[in-house]
Amino acid sequence: MKGIILAGGAGKRLSPLTRITSKQLLPIYNRPMIYYPLNTLIKAGVKEILIIIAPEKAGEFLNLLGSGKEFGVKFTYEIQDKPGGLPEAFIIGESFLDNDNVAMILGDNIFEEDFSEHIRSFKSGGRVFAVEVADPERSGVVEFDKKMKVLSIEEKPEHPKSNFIIPGLFIYDSRVVQFAKELRPSKRGELEITDLHKRYLEIGELDVKKISGEWIDAGTFDSLLKANQLAKEKLHKGLII
Ligand code: DAU
Repeated sequence: MKGIILAGGAGKRLSPLTRITSKQLLPIYNRPMIYYPLNTLIKAGVKEILIIIAPEKAGEFLNLLGSGKEFGVKFTYEIQDKPGGLPEAFIIGESFLDNDNVAMILGDNIFEEDFSEHIRSFKSGGRVFAVEVADPERSGVVEFDKKMKVLSIEEKPEHPKSNFIIPGLFIYDSRVVQFAKELRPSKRGELEITDLHKRYLEIGELDVKKISGEWIDAGTFDSLLKANQLAKEKLHKGLII
């Protein structure tokens, strides 16, 4: 299993903080934000990690993270010229992935969950997770029945069909590169990760697992503050980097 951390994007929602540095390098309690998703991958046993970054801030990531040796893993870097959507990561990462399975995590997603078992037991298809939240309309929403059979997936719907959202850690088999290439941009002009989930759903190979640990998308001022509090109270104890 290879890993990707997607840490590009313009970070406009957090301006003027992001005029100084990247969103993913802002402090979360005692670490730069990206340490948390990195920690999630490394703790789950992922050893080869591709970090995808925006061109303007690439040097800062290299200075901070280097080769990965310090963390006992190997980092590779790629530039995403413009934010074309989450699935673009698999196209950019094609040669790095080299037909292996992949776990991709978003650089602003902070998880309490330990994904070791979910990653170790993964064989093929797509595996995503479901977290219950109060404001599902801000994310990709998943609706399922009692047997965890997925009924629908919608990106930021006005009227969500459930309170479960799909957080930013996605596990896919090697077909994801081809599937990403076949996607067409949505109305907002980006490739959508929910369309990729739907592709696996169509062929009956999407697996959804509920997780109960805390999850925060630290992309707004309020969630950034919450992430800081959570890191101070709980998460910093589970950090291995
Ligand atoms: O956080 C989980 C949610 O992430 C999912 O539930 C949604 O289905 C998914 O679309 C995504 O929603 P967001 O609104 O959080 O996506 P956003 O455009 O904010 O991008 C997430 C992160 O990925 C952000 O930190 C910047 C980075 N990014 C984004 C895009 C579109 C890139 O590095 N490159 C990109 O092209």
